[in-house]
Amino acid sequence: MPVITFANTKGGAGKTTMALVVAGELAKRGFRVAMLDADPQQWVSRWMVRMAKMSKFSIIADIDADNIEKTIKDLKKRNDYVVVDLPGGVTPLLAKGLGLSDHVFVPVQGCALDAAGGAQVLDILKKLKSECDIHIAHSVALTRVSSIITTRALLAVKGMLAQQGVHVLATPLIERAAYRDMFDAGTLIDALDPEAVSNLAKAQDNARLLVDEIAQFAPVPVKVPKTAKSTATAKAKAETPRKTAAAKKAA
Ligand SMILES: Nc1ncnc2c1ncn2[C@@H]1O[C@H](COP(=O)(O)OP(=O)(O)OP(=O)(O)O)[C@@H](O)[C@H]1O
Ligand SMILES: [Mg+2]
Repeated sequence: MPVITFANTKGGAGKTTMALVVAGELAKRGFRVAMLDADPQQWVSRWMVRMAKMSKFSIIADIDADNIEKTIKDLKKRNDYVVVDLPGGVTPLLAKGLGLSDHVFVPVQGCALDAAGGAQVLDILKKLKSECDIHIAHSVALTRVSSIITTRALLAVKGMLAQQGVHVLATPLIERAAYRDMFDAGTLIDALDPEAVSNLAKAQDNARLLVDEIAQFAPVPVKVPKTAKSTATAKAKAETPRKTAAAKKAA
């Protein structure tokens, strides 16, 4: 089952927020989601303590370079999606986490410093391909984008990425109070009070569109149940002679 990872070496780029919004929306759609909290500060795990338990959404704390591989391997068997929230910085955990991913999303804000943190992740992905022949699909995901203006810095980041042939998701995560408030409230955005949080419906729409797009790049493989498979084969076999007989009659 797909492992999707959010990585940017710069602290505060918006990794945890985007990972949580995406994981929450996937769980809401009925997928079994495990979120790995690889940040030593354990923001998500602490947040989870206050959140009402959701049966399809688990958060796994204390992920480090030593245990990430085994943890992902185990969780893939029991979940539809494994969502990895990596910490900032260039560390062995970052390289390992990237290498274990099916798709890496690099949240980038429209400022130069942030783009540099994203570029470091893109460089590691390039090296994994050229030096180790490991190709990890990846996209930049713009975040904290203003809902009203397109800033020059954002246009510059987009231009730079397009020049380098880096894929950028069409749906950015907009700067919304709901994405901040979910941390304070200890809940996913859907459980926030629409009376108290401005533009909550817009934040929910944004999350839906983002996950629609992400799911295209990291789809859950469709399992054909054994019984359905054997019934279909038996049906096909049973129909073949009848068709042949009908064809002969027509001839
Ligand atoms: N789309 C958004 N709208 C509003 N606020 C946001 C958005 N994305 C991130 N933020 C805010 O920006 C700050 C940093 O975000 P976040 O913690 O997700 O970054 P991070 O990359 O995970 O940081 P770290 O490297 O420390 O783990 C937080 O205060 C968060 O609430
Ligand atoms: Mg974080």
